[in-house]
Amino acid sequence: MCGIFAYLNYLTAVDRQSIADILTQGLKRLEYRGYDSAGLAIDGDSDGEVLIFKEVGKVASLQKLIQEQNTIDWTKTFTSHCGMAHTRWATHGQPSRINSHPHRSDTKNEFTVVHNGIITNYRELRLVLEKKGYTFESETDTEAIAKLAKYIWDSQKGNKTLTFTDLVKGVVKELEGAFAMIFKSVHFPNEIVATRRGSPLLIGVKTPKKLKVDFVDVEFGGIAEEIPAEVEGAPTTFSSLEVPKLRRSESRAFLSEDGLPQQIEYFLASDPSAVVEHTKTVLYLLDDDIANIREGELRIHRLRRDDGISSIRSIQTLEIELAEIMKGSFDHFMQKEIYEQPESVVNTMRGRVNFDTHKVTLGGLKTYLPTIRRCRRIVFIACGTSYHSALATRAIFEELTEIPVSTELASDFLDRKTPIFRDDVCVFISQSGETADTILAMRYCLERGALCVGVTNTVGSSISRESHCGVHINAGPEIGVASTKAYTSQFIALVMIAIQLSEDRTSMTDRRNEIIDGLHALPGHIKEVLAIDQELQRLARDVLHKEKSLLIMGRGFQHATCLEGALKIKEVSYMHSEGILAGELKHGPLALVDENMPVILIMTRDSLYPKVRSALEQVTARKGQPIIICNKGDDAINAESKTIRIPQTVDCLQGLLTIVPLQLLSYHLACLAGVDVDFPRNLAKSVTVE
Ligand code: BG6
Repeated sequence: MCGIFAYLNYLTAVDRQSIADILTQGLKRLEYRGYDSAGLAIDGDSDGEVLIFKEVGKVASLQKLIQEQNTIDWTKTFTSHCGMAHTRWATHGQPSRINSHPHRSDTKNEFTVVHNGIITNYRELRLVLEKKGYTFESETDTEAIAKLAKYIWDSQKGNKTLTFTDLVKGVVKELEGAFAMIFKSVHFPNEIVATRRGSPLLIGVKTPKKLKVDFVDVEFGGIAEEIPAEVEGAPTTFSSLEVPKLRRSESRAFLSEDGLPQQIEYFLASDPSAVVEHTKTVLYLLDDDIANIREGELRIHRLRRDDGISSIRSIQTLEIELAEIMKGSFDHFMQKEIYEQPESVVNTMRGRVNFDTHKVTLGGLKTYLPTIRRCRRIVFIACGTSYHSALATRAIFEELTEIPVSTELASDFLDRKTPIFRDDVCVFISQSGETADTILAMRYCLERGALCVGVTNTVGSSISRESHCGVHINAGPEIGVASTKAYTSQFIALVMIAIQLSEDRTSMTDRRNEIIDGLHALPGHIKEVLAIDQELQRLARDVLHKEKSLLIMGRGFQHATCLEGALKIKEVSYMHSEGILAGELKHGPLALVDENMPVILIMTRDSLYPKVRSALEQVTARKGQPIIICNKGDDAINAESKTIRIPQTVDCLQGLLTIVPLQLLSYHLACLAGVDVDFPRNLAKSVTVE
């Protein structure tokens, strides 16, 4: 997944340096989405001149490249200007200057485009466009979009009525795959067209005066002809664009009281974190929306009127604060987000758990509770850390609801074309709400009539918008690529769902109350674990740092903790690490154990404690010297053993405490390894391409 950003100023004087700074600052906020190369496009000095700067590496390298451009007058002021930028996570073509975005249609930069997603029919498009004499300079799928725009422009030469929006409609009709993209063109100065299908895109609006209305009308109107296919899947000619009869837009939102254009700035971005420092007034684009900003006015178009798609787009106010997306006094976002957990878990429970009456109320599920309680089975579907939160709560779900629960990795679920029925309830867990595998799995289940529940951290995300109902985990923005506070908040959200579902079972009252009391004590317990951070730092430095591999073992509720802990260590410190179900040890993994293999064993007090003790004996019998995560006051653990002692809580919540030392260990191992903790190599915060 990549990050795209654009900035338009209209009737607002801004110098070129500030424009470049706003664009690169926007990219910095989106860097966690992809950071192997970055680029931007701004206007040159002469009409029709567009300057493109692209550099390999993080946004800082692009900023350095721009600073070195001393032949350019950075003090030049523009009262109207549109610039766009991109930070990349390579899917097609190695990280290189030529493969970075913006991509252009030709050496005169007639059309430039930044894109997040994957165009799946780009090879076919490329084939035809090359046949038409268009030469490609990169290995990317995105370049085909810019070339296609140019082809349509060339094929419409002399068509004075052709608008930028119509042209992009022509482009969109030919594209297959996922995209959020922004177009700029020398033929349509100070104008931008942006559109999405499958990848997120929002528009921030900043005006000195309050906007007149809090919505924008959607205008409908398509392109007539279908394209006759010459080569299987390869368009031969492109439809002669017919300008649709557009209704006069009633979007009065952006005009001043007297209906005249007013000073206005627009910020287009892949997610709110790049907009909030400029404005909290935003509008989320839906799939297949085509937004055009021209002469300070924003218009939303759609090719056709789709059922169930609203004909207005409401202008909303962001609920995140700038401080939430800043590091504050921490060295890294990951460290900050680990330390935020005593607050983020409270935010997840706020207004939902009444600790006095021991009642849980999840407004977003209310009307669906009877349906869920009657369902045949519950299927959890997710990726990465989100999948582990499902695994961590599966047992308590089954115990409290007596409904069979299965957990599925989204990509495998799709590959298997898993049978799904109308009386199934499918729960999709995703921090970003934009992970393509999880979204596609949800659409697969929606098509089969299952009730689809979303558990996500991102308001306005695809999962939260397209699911029937759901729960926002309210963990706050998570910037570090390795998910930490979202995991504990997802865990709690799922436990809260299980508790509410079981409220019709009186036999579970004591169990529910015990869990709710455990949730009440949680923030304090997490603070206790964070207090041993220095001990964990020493353990990382003196014991684990030099190791090549690490096994993490546990059983029952702690199996998910082992998998998640191992994932964190892999993600940020690049050390091979494996989570092992202790019950499986003797069926193979025990072969790995000897005096040299580092082992962490989770042995907290619960019904499986005796069984974990036998795993401990199996390991020590092979000269293994496990580091034991155990409860404070557990004197049964031999004093010589290396231990990490944490508070004891309710068995099904213990995983919320045992994960924190593993999050901190992975953080310290990453720092000791000198890697980029928040932006580990080859990863992205969520992958919006299949
Ligand atoms: C990966 C991230 O890209 O996606 C993981 O690196 C994350 O940290 C996984 O757990 C799933 O993301 P999401 O947003 O669907 O929870």
